[in-house]
Amino acid sequence: MSPRINRVAADARPSPTMGAAAGKTSHEDPISLAVGEPSDPPPPEVATAAERAIAEGRTRYGAVPGLIALRERVAADHAERTGAPTSADNVVVTAGGKPALMDALRCILEPGDEMIVPLPAWPTFLDQPRWLSAKAVTVPAEPDLLPDPDRIAAACTGRTKIILVNSPGNPSGRVWPHDRMAAIVELAKQRDLWLLSDEVYRDLSLVGPAPEPVSIDPEVASRTIVVDSFSKRFSMTGWRVGTVTAPAELASAITALMSSTVTHACAVSQYAALAALGLDGTWEASRLERHRRCRDRAVAALDALDGVALSGSDSGLYAFPDVSGWISEVGLEDDHALCAHLKDTQGLLLVPGTPFGASGRFRLSWSIAEDRLDEALGRLRAAKT
Ligand SMILES: Cc1ncc(COP(=O)(O)O)c(C=O)c1O
Repeated sequence: MSPRINRVAADARPSPTMGAAAGKTSHEDPISLAVGEPSDPPPPEVATAAERAIAEGRTRYGAVPGLIALRERVAADHAERTGAPTSADNVVVTAGGKPALMDALRCILEPGDEMIVPLPAWPTFLDQPRWLSAKAVTVPAEPDLLPDPDRIAAACTGRTKIILVNSPGNPSGRVWPHDRMAAIVELAKQRDLWLLSDEVYRDLSLVGPAPEPVSIDPEVASRTIVVDSFSKRFSMTGWRVGTVTAPAELASAITALMSSTVTHACAVSQYAALAALGLDGTWEASRLERHRRCRDRAVAALDALDGVALSGSDSGLYAFPDVSGWISEVGLEDDHALCAHLKDTQGLLLVPGTPFGASGRFRLSWSIAEDRLDEALGRLRAAKT
């Protein structure tokens, strides 16, 4: 006999996106288009601020909800963007976007409760409720990869507590239009639901400001949890800093939870994050220009391929084309088989669409060094001929 882990833990699986990124290939020059992180380094000010924090010994335990200067800055930005009065009491600094989402769920969901997740969706949205013996209720993907508010309404039950919104989206790369987001906001109000708004790609939009629930209707600040992260916005994936902006009661519940778990996000990383928010915008503008070039090249290459249909790539970092025509053309079984084929024959690492709840697609991360992207797109073309 030996002691057992619980049923939820026994059923756990590693993140499929991280698995694909780490995929092995015998190809002599593999190129990964699988990772969900920008390839460029963070702004230099980030490392300078971290070094200064270390040199000055600002490395001891700090406040659980995070540096007050950082929380105040995030609150001020949120208030300016959305028009909703926001203070540091509404903001908690977390060790990245993932724990921000999970901690919010831990403070809201009871076993058996449901969160509506429009597909396609980042697999973490489907996994996190399971850890709480709650359920992600998925709404099938539309061909344009944008959510259908009527189908979301139809998926709500008496156990629904939360509607998840993710715009710009992973893996869709789509920015949800104002009318669809507004209809979802209205639905949340009518049914008295939380809106969990994952906005970690907000600042990577290439089509102007992405409509956010709270900017559409500042009144829904009382039912909206905004999850943000420094990971994608400032290329700070490994620094592990994110934020939750939420009603004060929820923010203080998350703080209580963190005081029993992580204590707080890494102090040095928080000083680095504060420095990132103090930039004058030049770094962000030039990185968006780089993203635009990468996106345009990827879209042009995908559009030129028969059997591939792309309904847009509005934002960092992804394109999520329909490749079902390609799959049947070459007589492969599914998107997993096509990705395996491209890995073996071309050394290209891509993530199959099925784990995102949209089969017959793959996710292509175009934010890699531009010469490598050109090489990768050339190989995609070669695979098609
Ligand atoms: C939609 C979405 N939310 C949140 C995250 C989490 O980012 P992090 O935990 O690095 O802040 C990711 C990372 O891929 C993501 O794609």
